[in-house]
Amino acid sequence: MSLNKLEAILKQQLASIDAMGCAKRDEPVIRARVSGKNGFGPRYYLTGCGEEAFLRMNSNSYLGLDCHPDVVAAEAKAAEQLGTGPGAVRFISGSYQVHKDLEHNLATFHGREAAMIFSAAYAAMLAILPPLISEHTLIVSDALNHNCIINAIRLSRCAAKAVYGHLDMAELETILQDNRGKYQRVCVVTDGVFSMRGDYADLAQIKTLCERYDDDYEQGIISIVDDSHGVGVLGATGRGTEQVCAAKADILLATLGKAFGVNGGYIVSSQKVIDYLRETAALYIYSNPITAAEAAAATQALAVVDSSEGVEKLAKLHSLSARLRAGLIAAGFTVLSGQHAIVAVLIGDTQQTKTLVDKLFAHQILTTGLSYPVVPKGQEEIRLQVSADHTDKDIELLLSVISSN
Ligand SMILES: Cc1ncc(COP(=O)(O)O)c(C=O)c1O
Repeated sequence: MSLNKLEAILKQQLASIDAMGCAKRDEPVIRARVSGKNGFGPRYYLTGCGEEAFLRMNSNSYLGLDCHPDVVAAEAKAAEQLGTGPGAVRFISGSYQVHKDLEHNLATFHGREAAMIFSAAYAAMLAILPPLISEHTLIVSDALNHNCIINAIRLSRCAAKAVYGHLDMAELETILQDNRGKYQRVCVVTDGVFSMRGDYADLAQIKTLCERYDDDYEQGIISIVDDSHGVGVLGATGRGTEQVCAAKADILLATLGKAFGVNGGYIVSSQKVIDYLRETAALYIYSNPITAAEAAAATQALAVVDSSEGVEKLAKLHSLSARLRAGLIAAGFTVLSGQHAIVAVLIGDTQQTKTLVDKLFAHQILTTGLSYPVVPKGQEEIRLQVSADHTDKDIELLLSVISSN
């Protein structure tokens, strides 16, 4: 057996990815981190970049909890006591008390009966959609939903899929109206916060529409919301999109790997839904959970978020994000409005986006340029992500570099 023929094809495909300028395999590699000093936040050293220290404006660790001493200590202590891996999937012998405690605390935090953790949020979405969707189900999805939703829908044996324009509630209503009587069940699935833009779904309106048309479908309409970028970021106490919209999804899914600063994913819902998914969700049954040490770290991170320290961190995050948005607008940039720590600077051109990202990199600032096909043509952007670990001086530095000639 030889890879020769396959490699010839892959070589061409890699060349076309390279030509589009969206190759990912030469990513920056972090080799060290130093804590903040002189009024600046933490800095990062990259492999191959000598002693240049970088400001990281493209991390999802919105509250800086990945390096919080209590979170790090909780992980280290649990690893010492329980080891580095679960040793089995949950139902065999890989279920630890810390997994159960974390699930209990996540359910309480989100005001739900029960929770269930997975190795990642992506895995959670792939795990839960197929068992909740039958050949008599219509799936309704926002046009800008995350890739995990798109692939989870592909894995599901649904009767049909309908996509509404991004945040277009009138189109969602038309879909729910027009399909009355055609399907037994409807599953409306959306991101809470959208990762490319930092805007968020109108959960109150989605909930209203689901309730309005629920009786028109024999098995009702359920809402599933992936708020991986919203939890620990939006709302005065970090409950995410649900908090700012004052509305709850039937099933809320989120990650432990962004604001919580750890790793893994979870869902919260009713006890019945969780009981059913523990019996049917393949990526839960046949794949390892997060480690006991990660579960201990996430439990500690959740305790920080749900404390006065967490509320202070959130307030700082919101204020730094507002400061950055205002500064960019004052400097003449077009910025998507909002309150999220994702600050999307619209550039509208692939080359200009790359030039600006390169310029920021040359000044030791890490940012992410998003171009087609990740975003539609004409909507190329630089995505800046604020963290509570940043300082006013970091934001001023970024603003002065980005607006310099
Ligand atoms: C909306 C959304 N869902 C899920 C994920 C995946 O999260 P995880 O890394 O926990 O799989 C991401 C990460 O980028 C995301 O933005």
